[in-house]
Amino acid sequence: MAADTYFTRREAGEYAYTIEANRLKFGLGAIAEVGWDAKTLGMKRVALYTDPRVAKLEHVAIAAGALKAAGLDVVIYDEVAVEPTNRSFLAGAEFAREGGFDGFVSVGGGSVMDTAKASNLYATYPAELLTYVNLPVGEAKPVPGPLKPHIACPTTFGTASECTGMAIFDMLEMEMKTGIANRELRPTLGILDPAALTTLPELVVAANAFDVFSHAIESLTAIPYTERAAPENPTLRPMYQGANPYSDIACSEAIRLIAANIERAMAAPDDVSAREPLMFAGMLAGIGFGNSGCHVPHAMSYAVAGMVRDYYPQGWPDDHAMVPHGISVIVNAPAAFRLIGPSAAGRHLRAAQAMGVDIRNISDDRAGEVLATEVIRLMRATGVPNGISGVGYSDADIEALTDRTLPQQRLLDIAPRKISRDDLSQLFRDSMRYW
Ligand SMILES: NC(=O)c1ccc[n+]([C@@H]2O[C@H](COP(=O)([O-])OP(=O)(O)OC[C@H]3O[C@@H](n4cnc5c(N)ncnc54)[C@H](O)[C@@H]3O)[C@@H](O)[C@H]2O)c1
Ligand SMILES: [Fe+2]
Repeated sequence: MAADTYFTRREAGEYAYTIEANRLKFGLGAIAEVGWDAKTLGMKRVALYTDPRVAKLEHVAIAAGALKAAGLDVVIYDEVAVEPTNRSFLAGAEFAREGGFDGFVSVGGGSVMDTAKASNLYATYPAELLTYVNLPVGEAKPVPGPLKPHIACPTTFGTASECTGMAIFDMLEMEMKTGIANRELRPTLGILDPAALTTLPELVVAANAFDVFSHAIESLTAIPYTERAAPENPTLRPMYQGANPYSDIACSEAIRLIAANIERAMAAPDDVSAREPLMFAGMLAGIGFGNSGCHVPHAMSYAVAGMVRDYYPQGWPDDHAMVPHGISVIVNAPAAFRLIGPSAAGRHLRAAQAMGVDIRNISDDRAGEVLATEVIRLMRATGVPNGISGVGYSDADIEALTDRTLPQQRLLDIAPRKISRDDLSQLFRDSMRYW
């Protein structure tokens, strides 16, 4: 294999990377096999997690029917909060603790899958919520051992929560999103059935697509894994290792698939052939970025989502203001690509090329700008908000947004250049509006 100079070995630098992935099943109609899968995993009494809207969809009826047909005892928990919070995580965990379940099935988007992961964790190893939550908000204590089996069945395609060891929630008291990151949280199996996507509202499709897109671009432009110091022992190798040859391939293809299909998929909701490649892209990027990591746009997104005041997006429940995850990420992305482009020019050009841009005559100093321009074009075409002003922020919020982003060091550390406090403030200023 020809060596990519991006991964040149450094003195005492990292020399290996791991590809960790769970078992995944992909295909139209695959949800009907969930009963067989749950039984094979030894489940007898199953908690089926979903949210109030997804609970009414055929996908949940098929899953519940398949579990029952396999002879399993099924109890449905349909109270998952969309964009979960510390309070809704605790409510889900209480349901799990009281129910005496030996397995979990989640049918829904990232909100549902993450709530099932957290419920499984806190029911299996009871503790104060902050015990396992990422630093600096929580104590980031290691999970004591394996969790009960969990089959995650996404009905959206952006978060890749079915592939990852992450569970994200809104820490209400701190107006900040944070999460739990631990390999034990990774579902035992993911069942990706594109049939679920035909009922997804238009803006939810766009938000998911941009989440995938940003996972993939951030992974591609992350520091190379060889730039970290080699760990003292292999167990200390982080989950987010930096870009590596495997994540590069998965993420480049994910970018291509999203750019090629997003507009078609939004125009024809019933056409599953346009939505299927989006789900495949989400899976590819999920495995890719799950092992490499994401950086600046995602680090900024937690503050943008956490400090929301009065944004009520079309397609989501309107009982509270929220900036959905994919939107909270993409509104920062063009500004971030412009800033960090020169530090990893070849990588930004590779992402632009995957979007269909002819990169032959583009100089390195324009790489970030070219990628940003292409992303902005797609944002306009899909009707997502115009930067952070489009979701309700003004210059008066920049200090607070910056304060809440600084703690995201785990993400900022794998950006291809150092990101200072001043950089972050400038990035929020530059993210205010794009057109
Ligand atoms: N665990 C991870 O690795 C990870 C990664 C990124 C984001 N997240 C988290 O995931 C959450 C967002 O998840 P999401 O974008 O998948 O959306 P979601 O689960 O929040 O759902 C969005 C809306 O779409 C509805 N919906 C879901 N599937 C539907 C379908 N098939 N048809 C019609 N309506 C449907 C839901 O009821 C909800 O109203 C956020 O909390 C985010 O922070 C987690
Ligand atoms: Fe994301």
